[in-house]
Amino acid sequence: MTGREAIQHKRPAISPELDPCTLSNYYDVNIVSSNLDLVVSFDNKTVSGSVTYVLKFASKRVSKLTLDCSYLDIKGVSVNDKSAPFTMLPISEPFGSPLEISLETIVDSEFSVSITYATTEKCTALQFINGDTGPYLFSQCQPIHARSLFPCFDTPGAKSPFKYKVYSPSKVLMSGLPEETIEKDVYYFNQPIPIPSYLVAIASGNIVSAPIGPRSSVYSEEPKIKECQWEFEQDMEDFIQVAEKLTFKYEWSKFDVLVLPSTFPYGGMENPNITFATPTLLCKDRSQVKVLAHELAHSWAGNLVTNCSWEHFWLNEGWTVYFERRILGAIAAIKAKRSGRQDYEEYGEKYRHFAAYLGWSELAQTIPDLAVESTSLIWNLTNQDPDDFYSRIPYDKGFTFLYYLENKLGGTKEFDDFIPFYFKKFRYQSIDSFQFIDSLYEFFVPKGKQEVLDSIDFEAWLFAPGLPEYQNFDTSMVDECTNLADKWISSFVKGDVDLIKATFDQEKDFASFDANQHLVFLGNLSKQLDSTDVDPLLVRVFPDVYPYYSESQNFEIIFNTSSLLIKYGSYSETDTTVQRFASWLHTVGRMKYVRPGYRLLAKHISRDFAIKTFEANDNYHPICKALVKKDLGI
Ligand code: BES
Ligand code: ZN
Repeated sequence: MTGREAIQHKRPAISPELDPCTLSNYYDVNIVSSNLDLVVSFDNKTVSGSVTYVLKFASKRVSKLTLDCSYLDIKGVSVNDKSAPFTMLPISEPFGSPLEISLETIVDSEFSVSITYATTEKCTALQFINGDTGPYLFSQCQPIHARSLFPCFDTPGAKSPFKYKVYSPSKVLMSGLPEETIEKDVYYFNQPIPIPSYLVAIASGNIVSAPIGPRSSVYSEEPKIKECQWEFEQDMEDFIQVAEKLTFKYEWSKFDVLVLPSTFPYGGMENPNITFATPTLLCKDRSQVKVLAHELAHSWAGNLVTNCSWEHFWLNEGWTVYFERRILGAIAAIKAKRSGRQDYEEYGEKYRHFAAYLGWSELAQTIPDLAVESTSLIWNLTNQDPDDFYSRIPYDKGFTFLYYLENKLGGTKEFDDFIPFYFKKFRYQSIDSFQFIDSLYEFFVPKGKQEVLDSIDFEAWLFAPGLPEYQNFDTSMVDECTNLADKWISSFVKGDVDLIKATFDQEKDFASFDANQHLVFLGNLSKQLDSTDVDPLLVRVFPDVYPYYSESQNFEIIFNTSSLLIKYGSYSETDTTVQRFASWLHTVGRMKYVRPGYRLLAKHISRDFAIKTFEANDNYHPICKALVKKDLGI
């Protein structure tokens, strides 16, 4: 059996499905509003203050309210402004120790609950560090770290508008629109659009700003601000306009970006109004601005229409990657048109396919290393830490599913009518994958597509583990890179250093390559070295004949070239290539590089060396530390 019928037996009794990763009883109440009133202390390394919720019973009255907390110091609770009894329940990792509040005294259906508290040293959401120009604080709440920043309904299944007030000795940014004040060292923000707690974000430090578009500014510490501006200003507004064309008007007013210190553990984080970004985007070739296309796309996928639990995370990331690639394709077309190309539309589509192919190869490469149960689109996260399930699966398997649907249902033209329908239907809500499938039926059946839908193996797409069926991506841009990799490999196999050097007219070979094509080239070279017997001493010559490594400021190229060398160059820990890579790993905090970087050292140099190198750096973000420890079995 295929189609929607085939997944009926997996359907939850109520939709959207409940979230197993929260201990709160969020389903018993509706959140009318949330208010945070905070004080940042750089001396104590804490955030303290109060959170106040206005709540309504959802259907029936309940006698208790349970909120997620993790290592919070709870000072007091009041219900309707009167001090109220509370209990901290025993800790149940990784979900923390929830706070239970008695609601016995409540008469009306609407009531307020206020909790005063402080964060502690064990807070996983915050990092206090020395920035380039002074003390710095930033948060990362997704997926379940908001509970270590404030008592909350820590589930993407519960949304609320937020207001924030913060006292801090230095500039504060939060995930809302700033509001004017004359009070010194006090910052106000308003987030009128209902958001889940994982999108609450705070940063404070010596931060300045520069414009990167009519509705966008970039923020960073002063020494980097010009660099940030250059890297992003060319594309930001184009991205927004293309995204709006695919969906509907950008609803959040401003799209600003904060470039954080290097310990920020992700490439980007879609905090509403203030996307957080890694400084590894500053690669001097504008190739990583694509991460902002991705975070921008979350303004619709994730931030307006939200996965109801991390089990359906692919709905957030798969859709976002789908948009990201549509945006990049459209931008490539715009640029091709400006440069006078006749076939600019085709070129844009080729570019999208190129990006899709890149994603597909990464997916194929990582699947063998993943726990099988994490390789399906829908996860079972009962008693699981969602951080442990993080991988390319929701991104690229999610993308592949949507790309498959796009083709199956008639191509971009047909699918493009569905996109605004879906995002309008579910905006401000949190949904599960079944509701997504239902919306496909709702939209496409009247268009005569019932049979097509019924022929789709939704069960396999959503629940089967492993690599999905390969899609017919246009590989013309990929082929250029593969051919070059073939040429390089054959000269490596011949095994003569001078010949290797002579074979490559580097300038000419790479003249038309952009950074992404370099990555495909490197990926292919690496794949071929896996299956070809090449003398490690020859591999070590590679940096001399591939100048883009030593010259590049592009972290992707640095990481991939170093990985290739360490994998196939048979180095030992005292070799400069290894030493240099080890020190480089101390300068980046983005887990995309840090985690595979240490795994690489453990596998190809030694586990001891990997652990020694890791432990020599005290600066990693708490989330990054925890995950590398798991990776290395510390
Ligand atoms: N929302 C994610 C980051 C995230 C996911 C943080 C899960 C915590 C838990 C963000 O939008 C993202 O996907 N970032 C990518 C960017 C890339 C796919 C362009 C990253 O960090 O590399
Ligand atoms: Zn994302």
